[in-house]
Amino acid sequence: MSSELHVRKAKRFGGEISVPGDKSISHRAVMLASLANGPCEITGFLPSEDCLATVAAMRALGVKIDVLEESAIGPQRLLVHGRGMALDAPSGEIDCGNSGTTMRLMAGVLAGQAFASRLVGDDSLSRRPMGRVVEPLTAMGCRISAAGAENCCPLEIRGGGLEGTRYELPVASAQVKSAILLAGLFASGKTTVVQPLTTRDHTERMLEFFQVKTLTRGNEITVYGGQKLESRDFTVPGDISSAAFWAVAAAAFPGCHLTITDVGLNPTRSGILHVLAQMGAHIADSVKTDGGGEARGNITVHGRGLKGIEIGGDIIPNIIDELPIMAVAAALAEGTTVIRDAAELRVKETDRIAAVATNLRAMGADVEESYDGMTIRGGKPLQGARVDSYGDHRIAMAFAVAGLFAEGETVVTDAGAIAVSYPGFEDDLKALQKAPAKGEMAATPVITTAPENFSKNGSEGQGNGGD
Ligand code: S3P
Repeated sequence: MSSELHVRKAKRFGGEISVPGDKSISHRAVMLASLANGPCEITGFLPSEDCLATVAAMRALGVKIDVLEESAIGPQRLLVHGRGMALDAPSGEIDCGNSGTTMRLMAGVLAGQAFASRLVGDDSLSRRPMGRVVEPLTAMGCRISAAGAENCCPLEIRGGGLEGTRYELPVASAQVKSAILLAGLFASGKTTVVQPLTTRDHTERMLEFFQVKTLTRGNEITVYGGQKLESRDFTVPGDISSAAFWAVAAAAFPGCHLTITDVGLNPTRSGILHVLAQMGAHIADSVKTDGGGEARGNITVHGRGLKGIEIGGDIIPNIIDELPIMAVAAALAEGTTVIRDAAELRVKETDRIAAVATNLRAMGADVEESYDGMTIRGGKPLQGARVDSYGDHRIAMAFAVAGLFAEGETVVTDAGAIAVSYPGFEDDLKALQKAPAKGEMAATPVITTAPENFSKNGSEGQGNGGD
């Protein structure tokens, strides 16, 4: 993709689309398949820069990974020759690129390997906090240090000799939880992670799928060391975080009808649908299959305009990656939206609170930043503007969607960052603007399910938003 993305106000939007594979699940599939006791075929792999960094990391550790099928956006079917729990020492440093998931989860894997390794990342990743994995892995007996300033990478690891631990996460982070559980596979005895709030549970589900017993009691997850991963084939569902961009655009586009097929509907990730329904969206999901421990199905959205709400509390980790596009939704909604409890946004690929507020203001929206969120007084017409992605894929895509609703032209600079999670985004953006005119597509009945596992405290609205 060119590094500038030019977007004009959309005349039409909708149709049917499938989005590329889930980023979180693709990382984990490659990692767990690499540790399994035989070959595993991964279908629906996300060939984005982040996930390819995980493939390169595993190859650097001696894992043979064949590409079985190459699509227009890259390799989507892989054969990972799992080699059991012992990997080879790498011949050089391992470059995690922009990918926090690669760095933090690989730190957990490498903590279990009796050799020295060094994980490096790009400028953005080199500013992100790594103390959060260094501390628990050190408690398990790993020699690991963050060699950059202020507990940032490079991570220098000499693994092996781990002991199980019980660790209470200071922040709700699936990456840190996963790093500890992966290290726990190599540790003696039991390793328990206690999370302050429910975070995405793909690691636990995929460990179970690979025949590793885990025990989840509320927000405590335990794994016993010494278990072996049985090789299994795995199919990755579409990424709900990518689908979210189109769901918001459709929900805010009166008269539009959109179906997103075969997308992941894991309840620890699908809070976005509930929040959109609270904002008045006419939205439905239907779980079609439940393969590999992950629910998947279709999402349908009928556009009819949105209204402001309060977003905070337990649901935040569930929708953390969707908050930039939710902020755009809020600017397009009537009334005020308050986002709170989301300070983690400040340590993502960029400070997403500052980036979103700056860009929304440049487009004429009324936004106030707080340390852990923002207040958006929606309904002011958006104007096309030049906005920066700050090198952050989700900021770039959120503002491409904002451009569909703005007068004139919106230019997103440094939009090449989108390749981190959504190769093919620009083509999909164009295809969705060729939607059939209203009335050409049959409507589907609407029953919206709420995500199951977050408390109703502070985030519950008026239900499914159906008519
Ligand atoms: C991810 C967890 C989240 C999320 C990131 C992917 C994962 O990060 O923001 O995009 O795959 O585990 P944190 O664990 O830092 O919250």
